[in-house]
Amino acid sequence: MASIAVRLAKADVAAGQAFAAKGICSVCHSFNEGGKAVIGPNLYNVVGGPHAHMAGFAYSEGMKNKQGNWTYEDLDAWLTKPSAYVPGTKMTFPGISDPQTRANVIAFLRTLSPNPVPLPEVTENAAPAAAKSAALPPVEPLLANADPKAGEAFAKTICVICHSVNEGGPAIIGPNLYNVVGGPHAHMAGYAYSAAMKSKAGPWTYEELNRWLYKPAEYAPGTKMAFPGIPDAQLRANVIAWLRSLSPDPVPLP
Ligand code: HEC
Ligand code: HEC
Repeated sequence: MASIAVRLAKADVAAGQAFAAKGICSVCHSFNEGGKAVIGPNLYNVVGGPHAHMAGFAYSEGMKNKQGNWTYEDLDAWLTKPSAYVPGTKMTFPGISDPQTRANVIAFLRTLSPNPVPLPEVTENAAPAAAKSAALPPVEPLLANADPKAGEAFAKTICVICHSVNEGGPAIIGPNLYNVVGGPHAHMAGYAYSAAMKSKAGPWTYEELNRWLYKPAEYAPGTKMAFPGIPDAQLRANVIAWLRSLSPDPVPLP
């Protein structure tokens, strides 16, 4: 699937309007400035606004607890399957499965503002890059031959600028990394992780670390980790093998 940036660049606002304001969404939503709540909240100025953006509307707990603003990625995820994006949501709408229809609707929502949020930039190779990461080769075969010492040598040049790695070490710019492999996402108690990282479910498996260290900003859009990633697959495996060693009881190799 093309990224939301690519789909927005070719979105049909009129088709989005027909689908939303004259179609199914209008059963529950008003779209005009100052419009009333119907079954759902008014949607004027929702793009770029906070989650639960309409003052006085009785949102679900799940929606009220969502951190951060409605980015294009968030809206794309929400409209794919509302009940997955906000478990327990009051929006009883199954979602829009067609990616371009979602983009059309979001492009229409964007216009409901005196000052629409700029469209995301489409870099020329955005589509091939997304395709490439979807086909990222698995790390597990590479871990078998990985060299943790080489991983450590690389990490000492860059990761340790932002991360301590010893047991009980402090947060620097990033969290301490001791025992991160196999631990939960956002594993350091008390560290101020991004909403993107906090919302990731499940443990840090080898494959998750592989995707994260390939392109942090793609794995967790909005992450605070200002590091472009490690393009070389074997070097990533070496770094992951080193991370694995930062534990009294390393997770077994696959
Ligand atoms: C059956 C009624 C219903 C339909 C149909 C519906 N919605 Fe909703 N919508 C709601 C409700 C109720 C909420 C509040 C959700 C909550 O509190 O969890 C909501 C919330 C939202 C929000 C978040 C608003 C905010 O202030 O954070 C957006 C965006 C949204 N809907 C867009 C849409 C779009 C676009 C469509 C059509 C594709 C749609 N909805 C169809 C009932 C509906
Ligand atoms: C410029 C600073 C910086 C550099 C360089 C950096 N990181 Fe990070 N790292 C962070 C920040 C900040 C976070 C928190 C991310 C968030 O909350 O979105 C993080 C998070 C992480 C996490 C998730 C931790 C958890 O508790 O879930 C891992 C794993 C990680 N970094 C590994 C690395 C590795 C390995 C390197 C070197 C290849 C590296 N980082 C380089 C700043 C950095």
